[in-house]
Amino acid sequence: MCGSVGYIGDKQATPILMNGLLSLEYRGYDSAGIAVIENNEITVMKDKGRVANLKAIDGIDTLTSQVGIAHTRWATHGKPSKENAHPHVDNHNQFAVVHNGIIENYHELKEFLTQKGYHFISQTDTEVIPNLIDYYYKNGISDEDPFLRAVKSAVDNLKGSYALEVISKLFPDRIIVVRKDSPLVIGKGKKENFVASDIPAILAYTKDFYLLDDYEYAVIKQDEIHFYDNTLLEHSKAIKNIEWDATSAEKNGYEDYMLKEIYEQPNSIRETIGSRLKLGEPCSFDDLDFTKEYLDTIHQIYIVACGTAMHAGLVGKTALERLCHIPVQVDIASEFRYRDPIIDEKTLCIYISQSGETADTLAALKLAKSKGAKTLAISNVIGSSITREADYTIYTHAGPEIAVASTKAYTSQVVLICMLAIHFAEILDCKQESVLENLKSDILDLPTKIEAVLDKAEEVQKFAKKVYTEHDMYFLGRGTDYHVAMEGSLKLKEISYIHSEAYAAGELKHGPIALIENGITVITILTNPDLVEKSISNIQEVITRGAKTLVVTNQKLSNVNFDYVINIPETNELISPILSVIPLQLLSYYISKNKGLDVDKPRNLAKSVTVE
Ligand code: F6R
Repeated sequence: MCGSVGYIGDKQATPILMNGLLSLEYRGYDSAGIAVIENNEITVMKDKGRVANLKAIDGIDTLTSQVGIAHTRWATHGKPSKENAHPHVDNHNQFAVVHNGIIENYHELKEFLTQKGYHFISQTDTEVIPNLIDYYYKNGISDEDPFLRAVKSAVDNLKGSYALEVISKLFPDRIIVVRKDSPLVIGKGKKENFVASDIPAILAYTKDFYLLDDYEYAVIKQDEIHFYDNTLLEHSKAIKNIEWDATSAEKNGYEDYMLKEIYEQPNSIRETIGSRLKLGEPCSFDDLDFTKEYLDTIHQIYIVACGTAMHAGLVGKTALERLCHIPVQVDIASEFRYRDPIIDEKTLCIYISQSGETADTLAALKLAKSKGAKTLAISNVIGSSITREADYTIYTHAGPEIAVASTKAYTSQVVLICMLAIHFAEILDCKQESVLENLKSDILDLPTKIEAVLDKAEEVQKFAKKVYTEHDMYFLGRGTDYHVAMEGSLKLKEISYIHSEAYAAGELKHGPIALIENGITVITILTNPDLVEKSISNIQEVITRGAKTLVVTNQKLSNVNFDYVINIPETNELISPILSVIPLQLLSYYISKNKGLDVDKPRNLAKSVTVE
């Protein structure tokens, strides 16, 4: 949540900062601002609303400074407004700060600073930071590195989460950065260096990144970057080459990132499979070294995640239980972390997170570690916080996902966890080889089958046109189809603002059926041959009560009276969600387009939820 970017080098900073902000808008888009050091003074320009508003500010193009920081905000403390937008400066305009995260003790700090004569203009938690830096700078006792020491003294007082970028007119040759529980990456260039909350912001300029750790400081200059630990002891740090190319974070001719990412799924699934899965060979993961002895001791697996990633976990549960015969519990990270879950060293905890930065998922992981469980992260972002905290990590390799609504990350998560289940089953030697080989063959066929589903886009578009003005919709399914229904319902809510609910089809009669009235749309996913008849009976019950029905199915249905049917290819039940979710992704996309909404940046939402 919130995006930040900083630049120091031999070029004009503003265009680079603006480009960075534009590619970070998915992290927050209610206000934006920049601070540069121009003619030995800090100049701040900011405005409410999108980056486009910031770009339109008079004089912003004429800033010649070669050092600056910028921010696009998702409001936590203080409503979206120009005053509350970042960067924030101290009362003497010497230090400017952009901040992602939340300062939990800002009331106390404000009181302390007020007693010392400081005043505040915004309602944000962030504004205490530049003033604390100013206070410690003035009251510092060391001549050595006074700027860094002042930042460190200020940071020592902060409780909460932060990724900070600080500039000072007194030290125009550097940006100081530090993080705790909020991501920050430093990009190394030639005669220029970059910092950002997220890799895509600076991917157009460099592929060489340093991934800052919690409580680690960096002093970034045009030609040098110095790293310090929490005691300000300098150390060296390894650089990471990030393979994503800049165009993979661009729209490439698609109207929206979400549509592009939906259409990327044949390829993203290919990338996820990679060389890990081949017919006739054991499924292999370079980064895992689980043994039969260890897996035999595991008496339960937890899958913990949020939102769409949690829905992928629900599908993964079925695969792990069926193939490995280990009981699996799936939990929402924000619930798991506060309910004292029963876990010990015989529990394996799997954390799924596209961004690898979701605050609740990260906290849930730390909790499991503290109780002695082994932790495994499934993430899309190399070097993200969750991957650095976990004992093991496997990457989805789906490429950057920019649209706020997750699509390709979900399908990659599902296929990856299914491959993990095969891997465990092979180690445990607990499933017939032919069952696993058939499933592998179905997984390898997925990209072609996804292409076949994408060919149905026009049919989905037509249906979307008929229903986009509706206020309520219902999604039904049984087994993994129910889990897909949950994901379809979430997609619809978040980007088309239509109220929707997902129900296990068999539950309908226990209450929700009271909501079904004439003309209401009910969407059912029907892919499990063993449960088709049961689900058809449930659809008949809603038809009788006047519902309009859309059915997504891979079964050959005859003598049915559904209003619309989208046929998709058949595949193994454990991975059918990868195919059946696509018409639902397309449906929410087209409904949102018909309503004229901003598909990629839905209201009130932001990608990468780094606050609780
Ligand atoms: C929905 C969506 C969210 C995320 C959730 C977890 O489309 O994108 O529900 O799935 O915020 O995010 P990650 O996977 O980054 O932990």
